[in-house]
Amino acid sequence: MARMRTDMTLIAFLQAQNCSNFPGSWRHPEAIPDFLTADHYVRIARTLEEGKFHLAFFDDRLAMPDIYGDDHRPAVQYGIRSVKMDLIPLLTAMGMATRFLGLGGTYSTTYYEPFHVARTFATLDLMLGGRAAWNVVTSLNDSEALNMGRAAHPAHDLRYDRADEFVECVLGHWNSWEDDALVVDRRVGGVFAHPDRVHRLDYKGKYFSSRGPFTVPRSAQGHPVVIQAGQSGRGKQFAARWGEVIFASYKSLENAKKQYAELKSAIAAAGRDPAAVRIAPPIYAIVGETRGIAKEKEAYLASLAQPEDALCLLGEILNFDFSGIPLDEPIGDVALAGISGQQALRDRVIAAAGTPNPTPRDFIELSKRGTIYEMPVFCGTAADVADEMEAWYQGEACDGFVVAATHRPGAYEDFTRYVVPELQRRGVFHKDYAGTTLRENLGLPRPIARGVPRRAL
Ligand SMILES: Cc1cc2nc3c(=O)[nH]c(=O)nc-3n(C[C@H](O)[C@H](O)[C@H](O)COP(=O)(O)O)c2cc1C
Repeated sequence: MARMRTDMTLIAFLQAQNCSNFPGSWRHPEAIPDFLTADHYVRIARTLEEGKFHLAFFDDRLAMPDIYGDDHRPAVQYGIRSVKMDLIPLLTAMGMATRFLGLGGTYSTTYYEPFHVARTFATLDLMLGGRAAWNVVTSLNDSEALNMGRAAHPAHDLRYDRADEFVECVLGHWNSWEDDALVVDRRVGGVFAHPDRVHRLDYKGKYFSSRGPFTVPRSAQGHPVVIQAGQSGRGKQFAARWGEVIFASYKSLENAKKQYAELKSAIAAAGRDPAAVRIAPPIYAIVGETRGIAKEKEAYLASLAQPEDALCLLGEILNFDFSGIPLDEPIGDVALAGISGQQALRDRVIAAAGTPNPTPRDFIELSKRGTIYEMPVFCGTAADVADEMEAWYQGEACDGFVVAATHRPGAYEDFTRYVVPELQRRGVFHKDYAGTTLRENLGLPRPIARGVPRRAL
């Protein structure tokens, strides 16, 4: 081992919905069914802060998974991510119940306006004392387009071209109040804020424009932390340009080492400091008092998946309707080329199937969509789980992890009680928060707002 690293980043993967990432999770007897109340999320936030997690983050979709057969009924009937609430009120509730936990959420660059997103997250960041993060996504599918008044989801690379402008615009607004602009001199004739330290952005791009001046001053951490998770060639280029925390889907340790090194190089090639970007793959952790107990828990969890889950969630993520194709029929070139959702997943299935024309069954079996095996599963005693995490982290395969829950809230409670103390004992994970802002706790630089923000091209 080259050097002992001691600053593992831990992020909790959350959903403002009826299940965790794992659609079968709501059937687990330990799953507390109060997911429509603030108490549910506040309880999780307190657990995560007890476990010194850096960040709790919510994913988002703007539609039910209803592409399969153009029908929402399976999603509703089987609870396949059929609830999807807006995450800002949840983050606020969680933030009010905690003091140090970072709180992040996903807002779409395809279906929202930059000014709206900039203002929402800047406000959240102020309310949380500098603990907010924004996960920048381009969204997935036509159902989202239809809910948001569009006819169809835009093409993959076009979404990223638009997203580049979107982020330029949001960051421009966030940087348009200089750090010392606010004075609040209450004397009559005194200055509220320096007029020459608050700037109009005057952003005019090909896809977005926004004039400003922005209406929300800077927070304790400057502005929210930017999260990104592009996996395709274009997506990684985007992540390397903007992401301060990058979620990267890695399937194995060997594959992770290679891709982690490539992503760090891409960040450097984009003119940024790779050490100032935290790369974290999503994983599941299943921990038991003994290996046998953990294995039993794993088998039980796996048994909660239902056949409908996979095709519904594949349709959602790929923006593709498998319903007219028999399970064992090869999918034609034209149909495959028309997959406009997560193309990295399509390409991974094609590569793993060893044929340019995989079948729907190949997609189900090779993606493991809708099951706990969609991500790496670290299963065993606390020491076993910590061993695997350490192997990835010390092996330069990541800077930390996005810990997904097999069920809620139990999986976060198990992780906090069993695995966190073990990681702390080994000296790889912090024993306490370094500061009060998310940037301080992640070891990220505080951005400086100086002068008129320019369009960064
Ligand atoms: C941990 C993680 C969380 C993600 N969360 C969301 C999300 O909430 N909403 C969304 O539309 N996409 C989400 N994505 C998808 C990514 O933004 C990205 O689109 C995907 O990884 C495919 O890469 P590509 O866009 O470059 O094809 C997530 C990906 C990962 C790995």
